[in-house]
Amino acid sequence: MSTKIAILPGDGIGPEIINEAVKVLECLQQDHSLDVELETAAIGGAAYDESGSPLPESTLNLCKSAEAILLGAVGGPQYESLERELRPEKGLLGLRSELELFSNLRPAILYPQLANASSLKPEIVSGLDIMIVRELTGGIYFGQPRGIRTLDNGEKEGYNTLVYAEHEIERIARSAFDVAMKRGKKVCSVDKANVLEVSELWREVMVRVSKEYPEVELSHMYVDNASMQLVKWPKQFDVMVTKNMFGDILSDTAAMLTGSIGMLPSASLDKNGKGMYEPIHGSAPDIAGTNKANPLATILSVSMMLRYSLNKTELADRIEQAVSDVLDQGMRTEDIADGGSFVSTQEMGDAVVNALKA
Ligand code: IPM
Ligand code: MG
Repeated sequence: MSTKIAILPGDGIGPEIINEAVKVLECLQQDHSLDVELETAAIGGAAYDESGSPLPESTLNLCKSAEAILLGAVGGPQYESLERELRPEKGLLGLRSELELFSNLRPAILYPQLANASSLKPEIVSGLDIMIVRELTGGIYFGQPRGIRTLDNGEKEGYNTLVYAEHEIERIARSAFDVAMKRGKKVCSVDKANVLEVSELWREVMVRVSKEYPEVELSHMYVDNASMQLVKWPKQFDVMVTKNMFGDILSDTAAMLTGSIGMLPSASLDKNGKGMYEPIHGSAPDIAGTNKANPLATILSVSMMLRYSLNKTELADRIEQAVSDVLDQGMRTEDIADGGSFVSTQEMGDAVVNALKA
């Protein structure tokens, strides 16, 4: 029986980069390496335009019934004045939360071919291989109460709540330690325990769970220092585990170490390993429709899907090798061209497909 994959192109450059990732899936389908059924649905602004909701019931149902989800990106300036509940981001956040995709894996790997595309010196970033494990369904993104209220003196006040229950910290800790066991066996937990009670509990639970993983070395770092260390000497890190919002911020920093945010895939997993896969970059409305976006983060997200949800390690390796091959051939989209000549979104996708066939 074929495996159902939900395809959610979304907004901005989403449809363009998803097209290229779908070509890769279809290529594996054609050479009989993979038996998948792809079903496309709207999310984010595109879904709002179609049906008035950024996460229509039909899309949610498709995602629930699919074995894995591939998403492009959501958001755009035309939606910024909508009330919060209707904004594209709500579609993505709703999906993460409805499907309980609490464990977000964001690998920052430097392809050696791109060492010069990073704004940091090659010796700082060469060989870089960090995994950021970001808690994705809790913390300040979802905490209640939240809102904007009017005080007695007529002044407005905005408020959000940063809250983590022990079970939420425990399960993300296990995710991080499990990942570390398959890598360098080092976990750095990033928090703000010098100021926040939530972080104090976070640290306590991390230490407790670490006892189940005697082989893994656990360290702690305050988030301000972690952001500094990431650009100072990033190779000190193996796995970093952190709260939702810190992970959002640190993963963008880590992305730039690798030359471009256009290179970074991600996996968002539930407790059974079912997952949603998406590039960590956004919808880039400024270049949408120009055939300039880098499709590699999305193509590498397909590879993560094969590895983490579909148990097809060999195919995942093949895709990663194909990406490496096209970089060897000198193919660059504008974001990684370092001022040199570059190819289009489509040309990059075609090149990966050709490398896969070779
Ligand atoms: C990300 C994005 C999202 C987030 C936005 C689009 C809601 O920045 O996946 O990192 O903040 O989680
Ligand atoms: Mg982000």
